[in-house]
Amino acid sequence: MCGIVGYVGRKKAQGILVEGLKRLEYRGYDSAGVCVLDSGQLLTAKCPGRISDLTAVLDTRPEMDAATVGIAHTRWATHGGPTEANAHPHVSDDGQLALVHNGIIENFLALKQVLTAKGHEFVSETDSEVLANLIAELYRTADTLEDAVRTALHEVTGTYGLAVISRREPDKIVVARRGSPLVVGVGDGEYVIASDAAAIVEHTSNAVYLNDNELAVIRPDGMKTLTLDNMPVPKDLEQIEYSLEEIALGGYEHYMLKEIFEQPEAVRNSLRGRLNLRETRVQLGGIEPIGRELIKTRRVIFTACGTAWHAGLIGEFLFEDLARIPAEVEYASEFRYRNPIIPDGTVVVAISQSGETADTLAALREARDRGATALGIVNAVGSTIARETDAGVYLHAGPEIGVASTKAFTCQVVVEALLAMYLGRRKFMSQFSLGELMGALDAIPDQMQTVLTQNDRIGEVVAGLIDWDNWLFLGRGYNYPVALEGALKLKEISYIHAEGLPAAEMKHGPIALIQEGMPVVVVAPRCSTYDKVISNIEEVRARGGRVIAVATEGDSRISRYADSVLWVPDCPAPLQPLLTVIPLQLLAYHAAVQRGCNVDKPRNLAKSVTVE
Ligand code: F6R
Repeated sequence: MCGIVGYVGRKKAQGILVEGLKRLEYRGYDSAGVCVLDSGQLLTAKCPGRISDLTAVLDTRPEMDAATVGIAHTRWATHGGPTEANAHPHVSDDGQLALVHNGIIENFLALKQVLTAKGHEFVSETDSEVLANLIAELYRTADTLEDAVRTALHEVTGTYGLAVISRREPDKIVVARRGSPLVVGVGDGEYVIASDAAAIVEHTSNAVYLNDNELAVIRPDGMKTLTLDNMPVPKDLEQIEYSLEEIALGGYEHYMLKEIFEQPEAVRNSLRGRLNLRETRVQLGGIEPIGRELIKTRRVIFTACGTAWHAGLIGEFLFEDLARIPAEVEYASEFRYRNPIIPDGTVVVAISQSGETADTLAALREARDRGATALGIVNAVGSTIARETDAGVYLHAGPEIGVASTKAFTCQVVVEALLAMYLGRRKFMSQFSLGELMGALDAIPDQMQTVLTQNDRIGEVVAGLIDWDNWLFLGRGYNYPVALEGALKLKEISYIHAEGLPAAEMKHGPIALIQEGMPVVVVAPRCSTYDKVISNIEEVRARGGRVIAVATEGDSRISRYADSVLWVPDCPAPLQPLLTVIPLQLLAYHAAVQRGCNVDKPRNLAKSVTVE
């Protein structure tokens, strides 16, 4: 989604802004722009295309080089196509101020009509330019830029993260947010603002996170934060959790591959301090304050989108299996618009890597408004979902840059397993059973490492199938969500059509798709439904399907049925998704590379979906 960067300080702004935009590239965009303030002039450069196109434009604008205040933006088109006119920053029609904006102004047409009647002119199709002109209109009579911004935002329906600079107050950036993240990096005599901490870490790890309906006024010598009602809000400095090394490629060709290979370490970090093996106890500090209340949980609703929804489906199975609590998973986008029934004792668990997904956030708010206790399973520390839940457990997976979620998925499943074990032990689970499962969970990072050694072989398996445009993914029980996730991974980065199914459902329709040579990936580790899955494989083979099985090491039977076998070490069924998903992530990765797709920037996709 769109990215914002801003700088105010003593250094030259342009380089910092462009570097910041590069750090946000992974989020997806189709145009970019910079506006700096120099000697009371607003100087703007913008264009459709990549940051490299923008730097080519900037090379022709040496007059923009010396400024020490500026704002910049990467845009992912919503209102109007990716053109130079629609790219941000937008300069108001009186030339007084420039604005960058993430989010959507829902009432922009009504505002545009009013402003047009007052004589304002518009050069773009965007809602953001309307906001720029609205602020400019109010700025004519306002004492300060922040007054004009505040008043304008009271007129606005919708979401925004925004940054504004003006000719009249050239040493100042005003930023505000509602529903779209904004972080202020606090340096020594300088501030870097951004919609994502990735653009800040190079300069400082000290940050102030704005909450919804807050605004900050930032000058080189200090900042103040206010509510939109002009009340001061004291803020503590927080630490940005990750470092520059963590967001660098570190020798890998793509972030997705790097993050697949980071999974053993990411899971170790997710488990750190949470498995007390000596006392056979799961320790989850984040939910401790409401631990007693949680034991009375009568029903759990997981809500999430995409890959996080697949993790939620595994969560449903884990909670029913290990904690004996009725559980279900809901698409956040559906849940928020239904009229959901939330009886007493309902706990809603929002699962989100970014912690900013608009639908998940809205579903969470809907559930809270109806009285549910809200838990978060979130990766991005300080994100909106993390802050709006009653309690939660962070993933500690480290930054996930690749658009296709991989290590966040496995860490989401780890955290769900920990939560289910934590509650299960307090309800039904014996200490012995818990101890066995804890030991198995502790062994997962090393087992993941073993699975990863098959990377090259998986590439070879894919090479033999790469011309197929339709694939099926089958699994049962805990491995049914893995089949769904394998299909999603393949289609989103390689653009191959793929369907994931509970294996037995195949014969109720989709079996008609199978023809000679069609790739069918069957997730078939040893578990209670193993024999049934073998029958499903036979059904596929009888119709000429080419079977790629994911199976337990040492399973001598499976090779008789499958054309290729990808091996995973043995582990208890509830933990199998943590291992069985890895070969599927690698299958998708190699398919995308072999088809020449841009793995880290798949078409039409953005990393964090902050619009509905
Ligand atoms: C797929 C993928 C998406 C996200 C979904 C939710 O690889 O990454 O399906 O899982 O957009 O995002 P978060 O977890 O940030 O809420």
